[in-house]
Amino acid sequence: MTALVTLLSLLLLGPQAQHGAEWTYSDGVLDEAHWPREYPDCGGKRQSPIDLQRKKVWYNPSLRALNLSGYEVQHGVFLMINNGHTVQISLPPTMCMTAADGTQYIAQQMHFHWGGASLEISGSEHTIDGIRYVIEIHIVHYNSKYKSYDKAQKAPDGLAVLAALVEVKDNAENTYYSNFISHLKSIRYPGQSTVLRGLDVQDMLPGNLHYYYSYWGSLTTPPCTENVHWFVLADTVKLSRTQVWKLENSLLNHQNKTIHNDYRGTQTLNNRVVEASFMSQVNQCSELQFYLNNTDVTLST
Ligand SMILES: *[C@@H]1O[C@H](CO)[C@@H](O)[C@H](O)[C@H]1NC(C)=O
Ligand SMILES: *[C@@H]1O[C@H](CO)[C@@H](O)[C@H](O)[C@H]1NC(C)=O
Ligand SMILES: *[C@@H]1O[C@H](CO)[C@@H](O)[C@H](O)[C@H]1NC(C)=O
Repeated sequence: MTALVTLLSLLLLGPQAQHGAEWTYSDGVLDEAHWPREYPDCGGKRQSPIDLQRKKVWYNPSLRALNLSGYEVQHGVFLMINNGHTVQISLPPTMCMTAADGTQYIAQQMHFHWGGASLEISGSEHTIDGIRYVIEIHIVHYNSKYKSYDKAQKAPDGLAVLAALVEVKDNAENTYYSNFISHLKSIRYPGQSTVLRGLDVQDMLPGNLHYYYSYWGSLTTPPCTENVHWFVLADTVKLSRTQVWKLENSLLNHQNKTIHNDYRGTQTLNNRVVEASFMSQVNQCSELQFYLNNTDVTLST
């Protein structure tokens, strides 16, 4: 009887059932709460995303502006796919990011997380002082000391993600997003792909690359590997309400349902430290502390 049921479920569910169910955010047997069952790292202590609490971040003046090279206008064709969870654009290895500590990271792909369920317009993964932004952009890179993304994704210092948050600006189309958004309708179904002719990631990002938060965390989707150096920009991208609506309502998932709220809930910080390259008004106290720690000041009584 058990064997028959197993056989039947294999026949009914097809190949997906044999390799375990496809993970989801909220529906089915492998929703967010159950990811650790199939992907143990998702239950780890250094997970992402997190809530960035401005009062608790540490100002680190040695965090200089991120150096992005090859991000400006590029010619050629760039693959853009609906992978059933998000829209993903493949990036060329000529795009790279050098962090303040000199580590060079090579771009691999960029994708988005958004809201849209039941009129909810917020869908960023990282939150700032508990506030969820509209969309979050992730540019996934791998450490240039590894030969490929595949090798780097298994290494403890393998990956870096540059993240930017989006805010709505009514009635102001962001023309740097027009080409990308107009291609969404060609990849309605999971597995479908199209190509973008030309890409300008620099202009799709916020202008200020000096101000960012940085910490060590994980991929925000299974397998949730804890090898990601995160750089979350403090400045935001502005998109019109119509542009946000199109991103939220163009793509279908593996169940042919519109992809809404494809973001993971925030994870506990545990004993990690979030650094900031800038002094926010609320962390002047730790700022003073840093100054005192790094200067030869002796407080006498
Ligand atoms: C930025 O990175 C590129 C490529 O790694 C390098 O050629 C350039 O000198 C760097 N610029 C600065 C200001 O560090
Ligand atoms: C989704 O819709 C497409 C087109 O109508 C269809 O070919 C496909 O079988 C559907 N998939 C599911 C899982 O319902
Ligand atoms: C300054 O030093 C104290 C004591 O060593 C430490 O607890 C604190 O975190 C340091 N603050 C900063 C901002 O480095």
